[in-house]
Amino acid sequence: MKNITIIGSGTMGNGIAHTFAQHGFQVSLIDINQKALIEATKTINANLDRQLNKGVISFDLKEQTLKNIKTFTSIKEAVSNADLVIEAATENIDTKLSLFQELDKLCKQETILASNTSSISITKLASVTNRPDRVIGMHFMNPVPIMILVEVIRGYNTSKRVTETIMELSKSLGKTPVEVNDYPGFIANRILMPMINEAIYALYEGVAGKEEIDQVMKLGMAHPMGPLQLADFIGLDVCLAIIKVLQDGFGNPKYAPCPLLVNMVNAGRLGKKTKQGFYNYE
Ligand SMILES: NC(=O)c1ccc[n+]([C@@H]2O[C@H](COP(=O)([O-])OP(=O)(O)OC[C@H]3O[C@@H](n4cnc5c(N)ncnc54)[C@H](O)[C@@H]3O)[C@@H](O)[C@H]2O)c1
Repeated sequence: MKNITIIGSGTMGNGIAHTFAQHGFQVSLIDINQKALIEATKTINANLDRQLNKGVISFDLKEQTLKNIKTFTSIKEAVSNADLVIEAATENIDTKLSLFQELDKLCKQETILASNTSSISITKLASVTNRPDRVIGMHFMNPVPIMILVEVIRGYNTSKRVTETIMELSKSLGKTPVEVNDYPGFIANRILMPMINEAIYALYEGVAGKEEIDQVMKLGMAHPMGPLQLADFIGLDVCLAIIKVLQDGFGNPKYAPCPLLVNMVNAGRLGKKTKQGFYNYE
């Protein structure tokens, strides 16, 4: 594995590009939006500076990391040489299905296609390709250069050899991969999202205020951040979308999203990115 192509240069895509490039891989970073690529390059530069100032990397490694990343707005030229493509585009099933169809046509036969999706079925994405044995989930956590976990999701048809290759590759990035099977929410979000939804229910029912709910989980359970603040950081729209995937996928009413969450999303209070969520970020 040498050439890695990353699709989507948003929050996750730029972090994944940074991490691979820092570990010596040649990275092609694609986005349909040229502005997003410019922003991503700025973010990577700023995050490398932070690592440099903390003594985590040398100046030479910073320079080499930047040289290892090339940006593109068209998929075709950026995937021709790819050994691995990691799709980190917007969490939308239609966007991802059409990307996987296109990638299957454009990539070499042996190229592995991975998705960083938080909740969309890997088996479903694989089903629109002619290489379902070479489609896998690589679920990085935010912020990617810092968080150690990679949840490696094995689709129904993903081969053992491809899973082993991705597990080893994740280790070569200094990450700890954990293998899970492809069921709604995988493990991370299947456990995290019901907790966040329950915290929102507790607020909605007036059991406690937002600070109190977050304090209980921080001080009592040693969580670095309370669930309501975490929901603001993830984005309330993203949380709602994932909870709906759990609800649809399992058909179990225990996953019904809290009406307060639905109302807040409809009102455009999406958390930190809109400066208003459970907390105010102005
Ligand atoms: N944000 C998180 O904390 C987090 C954590 C784990 C996984 N994820 C997953 O990672 C993926 C990306 O999330 P994000 O938070 O980085 O989103 P984001 O909105 O920050 O970035 C998505 C980027 O994809 C680009 N894009 C959309 N369609 C495209 C296409 N067809 N071709 C190329 N680029 C395209 C957009 O222009 C945008 O720049 C999603 O699947 C999400 O579920 C997010």
